[in-house]
This record gives sequence, C-alpha cells and structure tokens, in this order.
Amino acid sequence: MSELLNHLYGQQHRLCTTPSGQVTLVLSRDREIDLIELEQLCDAVGWSRRPLRRVRRALQNSLLLVGLWRHDPRLPKLVGFARCTGDGVIDATIWDVAVHPRYQGAGLGKQLMHYVLDALRQQQVQRVSLFADPEVIGFYAAQGWELEPLERRCAFWYAS
Ligand SMILES: CC(C)(COP(=O)(O)OP(=O)(O)OC[C@H]1O[C@@H](n2cnc3c(N)ncnc32)[C@H](O)[C@@H]1OP(=O)(O)O)[C@@H](O)C(=O)NCCC(=O)NCCS
Repeated sequence: MSELLNHLYGQQHRLCTTPSGQVTLVLSRDREIDLIELEQLCDAVGWSRRPLRRVRRALQNSLLLVGLWRHDPRLPKLVGFARCTGDGVIDATIWDVAVHPRYQGAGLGKQLMHYVLDALRQQQVQRVSLFADPEVIGFYAAQGWELEPLERRCAFWYAS
C-alpha cells in the first residue's frame, strides 16, 4: 500500500485522520493538480470562477501547491486544496484554502493547514500571512494565527 501511495502522491504525502475512517484521505504536495477538478472544488465552496488560463499561470508561479485527495487507486479525487506564494526563504502567503463541503467539519482543514505550514517550515520560511474571509477568521484564530494587531497596517493596490 505505501508503495502505491508514494507512487500516486509522492514521498512527502501524509495520511489524514478522520472520525469515520471509512475513506482514505491523503495530503500531497507532489501530485499534479487538475485545473478542472480545482475549478469544481472552488465551485463547490461557492467561489466565483476565474479564467482557467490565469489560474494555470498562478499555480505555475506558486511556491507550494497542496492537494487533499480522496484515495482511489485508479482515480484519486481532489477534495481540498491550498497554495502558497512567496520568495521561498523569508515570506510566504497562503491562498485558496478549501475543503469540499462533503468533507468539512472532520478536522481536514486543520490537517491541511498543518501540512502547508510544515512544508513552509522545511523551506525555513520565516513569516507566513494569509487573508481570511470574515466568516473563517475563527478557523485560523483557533489555530494560533495572529490577527492584524494594529488595524490599518495592511496596504493594497488594485489594478482595477
Ligand atoms: C474553512 C475550511 C477550510 C475549514 O475546513 P474544515 O475541514 O471544515 O475545518 P476543520 O474540520 O479542520 O475545523 C477545525 C476547527 O476549526 C473550526 N472551524 C471550522 N470552520 C470554521 C469557521 N468557518 N469558523 C470558525 N471555526 C471553524 C472547527 O469547528 C474545528 O474546531 P475544533 O478543532 O475545536 O473541533 C472549510 O470550511 C472551507 O473550505 N470553507 C469554504 C472555503 C473558505 O472559506 N476557505 C477559507 C478562505 S480564507
């Protein structure tokens, strides 16, 4: 089994623990992310669509892509995702954290975040940031993320 998992998900994969334990869920930073599957996942969590061409380039330019896969020896299914951008040394930013609604509430989002942070730690990244949607702030705060302490410290520039 472990040989198969290494083949499908790479040597740095991590098995997730779930309350039911009925399905095997695997975190991987090596298995290639299919754009259509990612779009379906983003649809499922209610995010607005982005042009696939641009998403492809964004993934190519990312520092780290993590997939959460429902294991199937023939066709693993993408049920969660997160990615990071950054310089790979000092700073990284986490984007697009999502767990398919069918798999939410089982501790998978938390395991996904741990896996991402462990991977960044391996790269010795010193500071990690993210932008939380208002309804998810509690999810990150409970995992020890510090909210912007002095409001109005973040600055943004939008192209349009
Ligand atoms: C946010 C998200 C990734 C969480 O994934 P999940 O697998 O449901 O989360 P977990 O089951 O690992 O939850 C871990 C803990 O966070 C809590 N939690 C989960 N979602 C939460 C939320 N929206 N607000 C506050 N706490 C939350 C859980 O109750 C759990 O608490 P516990 O450890 O005390 O039991 C998932 O709900 C999701 O994909 N949401 C839609 C997309 C989204 O909003 N992404 C974030 C963009 S910034």
